[in-house]
Amino acid sequence: MASVPSHAPVGTLVPGSLTPERIVPEHIDKPNYVGLPEPPQYTGPDAFDADTVSKIRRAGQLAAECMVSTGKLIRPGVTTDELDAFAHNYLVERGAYPSCLLYRGFPKSICTSVNEVICHGIPDSTQLVEGDIVNLDITAFLDGVHGDHNVTFLVGEVDDESRLLVERTHEAMMRGIKAVKPGRPINVIGRAIESYARRFNYGVVREFIGHGVGPAFHTGLVIPHYDAAPDYSQLIEPGMVFTIEPMLTLGTRHWDMWEDGWTAVTRDRKRTAQFEHTIVATEDGAEILTAPSA
Ligand code: MF3
Ligand code: CO
Ligand code: CO
Repeated sequence: MASVPSHAPVGTLVPGSLTPERIVPEHIDKPNYVGLPEPPQYTGPDAFDADTVSKIRRAGQLAAECMVSTGKLIRPGVTTDELDAFAHNYLVERGAYPSCLLYRGFPKSICTSVNEVICHGIPDSTQLVEGDIVNLDITAFLDGVHGDHNVTFLVGEVDDESRLLVERTHEAMMRGIKAVKPGRPINVIGRAIESYARRFNYGVVREFIGHGVGPAFHTGLVIPHYDAAPDYSQLIEPGMVFTIEPMLTLGTRHWDMWEDGWTAVTRDRKRTAQFEHTIVATEDGAEILTAPSA
């Protein structure tokens, strides 16, 4: 058996080809941005009542259950389009709309970000190979609200450097979540994430952020993943719902955009990982809303 390298390879990913647009059954409620070049401005609150939080929890649980099932298909040879097809059908069969589909014109139902792709990779004919890492970002729109979740998976046996990046990116997200308390400024979240990432000399991507989520996919509330103080000093309030979704890299935090206008890759093509939960700030901390119900 071939041995697993200890260092991560530098990426050479290229775009694949796309399948035709997937169909959403007529009976499924569509978010207000479908058919528009950009979403209508959100003017509602950042904090929600218990009934709205319950709805976001149900959407979030469905996204998390879809993640578990779709993640089981990850193996060498599967294409990112096959993962998209499965997740799309999983959500629509359960009455939800896959929020990514036609959000600002995004052509597929989930994001699939391989190796050096920071985020927003478009599912296509690319086959995963042994040793890759791949992030699935799945958002479900159910009962008028969105639940937004992402996980980075290992494909077969992965080198130590990549595996540690993935484990520590999950830990960075959890530290960000544990920093959430009512009365604290929003910038404590990024401070917790960045100070942990710095121990390992990882890059922390700045331009893609956590965000308020609920009746809108992105409400306008911004959650940085780096220490942005004294900016973003708005205080966390009970009932606020937002994502924490750090992207850490093995090298530079800077990036290039592919010509598709979506796929963000590290400028040095070194690997990058991400995890995302939707959370609600409670009276004394945070509750994760994107966990499976069973
Ligand atoms: N789910 C992503 C986020 O975490 C947004 C994806 S937008 C898309 O905010 F258009 F790329 F799908
Ligand atoms: Co998000
Ligand atoms: Co997401």
